[in-house]
Amino acid sequence: MSKCMVSPSVLAADFANIQRDIEMLNSSEADYIHIDIMDGVFVPNISFGFPVTQAINKHAKKPLDFHLMIENADKYLEECVKSGAEIITVHFEACDHLHRTIHAIKELGAKAGVALNPHTPVHVLEDIIADLDLVLIMSVNPGFGGQAFIPQTYAKLKKLKSIAEKVNPGLLIEVDGGVTTENAAQLHQSGANLLVAGSFVFKSSDPVQTIKSLKNV
Ligand code: DX5
Ligand code: ZN
Repeated sequence: MSKCMVSPSVLAADFANIQRDIEMLNSSEADYIHIDIMDGVFVPNISFGFPVTQAINKHAKKPLDFHLMIENADKYLEECVKSGAEIITVHFEACDHLHRTIHAIKELGAKAGVALNPHTPVHVLEDIIADLDLVLIMSVNPGFGGQAFIPQTYAKLKKLKSIAEKVNPGLLIEVDGGVTTENAAQLHQSGANLLVAGSFVFKSSDPVQTIKSLKNV
């Protein structure tokens, strides 16, 4: 089976040493760098904003994968692109006019993704999936790093994979929350091809090696 791609989440990085941590990711086999933006409205937490993402972008040599856990995402898409976003993922639950938002992301030259919370079924994407570059399946409730993985995720990934095979075989299928080497192989077998990992990478004694082991599941 092909290798899984990995997108370490800087939410778990040391913000007092952000340059050092980004350089560590540059030297690793990470495929992307995952950027979690939280607004304290859509999710009960605030992460960081564009002054921080610009600082990350200054040092990052990997493509940036933005995960917007915010309302009014349309207002901030251009800022994401200015901060180097190659992928912009918005939440299904936070977008009233998802089709418009997806096409606005594409017009800005980025890849467009939609994230689903654990309670949102995959079939809601049926009429938009052909337009998407990526679907992100949340395997925890968004808002915090370090939470326990929700096992129902495997079944959702399988459903999504079978829909994608018919209408969008190149779809990136990303999974986010509680990812470790314990569940990575099963996530990959269930259909995920891009794994986000925050605390598992940054709290490990050798993050570069941990990223490598997540890719080789
Ligand atoms: C959670 C974020 C995740 C988070 C994952 O709301 O979307 O990207 O950083 O953290 P871990 O891997 O620690 O669950
Ligand atoms: Zn995320």
